[in-house]
Amino acid sequence: MGRRNKVKTMKAAGAGVPGAVDIPAAAAVAQVKNEVDEENDAVMMAAVESPMIVPSSDDVTLDTTDGEEELVGSDQTSADYYFDSYAHFGIHEEMLKDTVRTKTYQNVIYQNSFLFKDKIVLDVGAGTGILSLFCAKGGAKHVYAVECSAMADTAKEIVKANGFSDVITVLKGKIEEIDFPTTHVDIIISEWMGYFLLFENMLNTVLYARDKWLVPGGVVLPDKTSLYLTAIEDAEYKQEKITFWNQVYGFDMSCIRKQAMLEPLVDTVDANQIVTHSTLLKTMDIEKMTAGDASFSAPFKLVASRNDFIHALVAYFDVTFSKCHKATGFSTGPRSRPTHWKQTVMYLEDVITICEGEALTGIMSVSQNKKNPRDLDVTVQYSFNGKRSSASRTQHYRMR
Ligand SMILES: C[S@@+](CC[C@H](N)C(=O)[O-])C[C@H]1O[C@@H](n2cnc3c(N)ncnc32)[C@H](O)[C@@H]1O
Repeated sequence: MGRRNKVKTMKAAGAGVPGAVDIPAAAAVAQVKNEVDEENDAVMMAAVESPMIVPSSDDVTLDTTDGEEELVGSDQTSADYYFDSYAHFGIHEEMLKDTVRTKTYQNVIYQNSFLFKDKIVLDVGAGTGILSLFCAKGGAKHVYAVECSAMADTAKEIVKANGFSDVITVLKGKIEEIDFPTTHVDIIISEWMGYFLLFENMLNTVLYARDKWLVPGGVVLPDKTSLYLTAIEDAEYKQEKITFWNQVYGFDMSCIRKQAMLEPLVDTVDANQIVTHSTLLKTMDIEKMTAGDASFSAPFKLVASRNDFIHALVAYFDVTFSKCHKATGFSTGPRSRPTHWKQTVMYLEDVITICEGEALTGIMSVSQNKKNPRDLDVTVQYSFNGKRSSASRTQHYRMR
């Protein structure tokens, strides 16, 4: 079965470029589970995709002419975009228009004013300042909006235009480097999640801020997140993206096939491609965890819910704001309403012929790449011994 969004879009890399906005239309997904009220209702946890858990622990090219940097905007070069991908409004447009994401934060803040009233808030990675504006409107005493990209200057303008300059202080700089004007904050709010949850490694920045400025008993929003794994039938798209390289106009380009296999695809998966139950890989408690906890190995057991073929593993995550009056959150799973995170697809070398009730088992290891900590190294060791096929292999992937 093919999928609709066949373009890999990277949240940061290249995404701050005109034309990179890529929001999957709600109507494009046949099976919608998260009934997020477009108007104002909170996305309650009951509506979050609840996997049948088997217990176990764009690409955009900027043209350059003969090495000269092309002027993209009035005073920005393509190199600026590479290093400062959050400076352009395009990536922020994509995130703001992700209503599952943005309305959940809005509802968390507006419907839980008891959390925010008279509190000092730190918005880690404020972007346009949207979360800070929600917090200010929601009753916070003061909000510090920290943003390292040039979007900080725009956020200042936005704060002023909306009459919140007395309540919101926008600070331009890296959380790890800024001169912070206060010693303590009561709440840390952030939208730090990357593809595969951990790509971009912004979680470490939130943990850094937590350890440095959050008062004992302070609140981190969101405070819980879980990473899940499932398996899909994906013959058509695997052929298009992977097998394609074996014979290109009669030439062997299988060396590129090897590279393509290494790179997980960020894409939307149709719910009817799912062959197995989902398994919980890892839960993170943002208020308690250490930076090292984001590197982990977890066993998985994926039990088939029908006779089918497995071509790929699919990872997705849920986010929870458990400190709300009623636990609130959202899922990025394939049975849920689509978000800009889509899902992360990792193709398997083997095609697994699986019968209902049989299990594909293995271990997934996730760690930051040593050279570039914003990249993720993923290793999957899997084995399968079924009535109609068997396989055992270790595969490596790199998200970059
Ligand atoms: C995913 S965006 C979220 C933006 C905004 N909070 C929202 O919800 O629309 C993350 C933002 O964090 C900023 N950022 C990433 N690392 C940072 C750091 N170490 N210090 C300050 N800002 C950072 C990025 O430039 C980006 O604008």
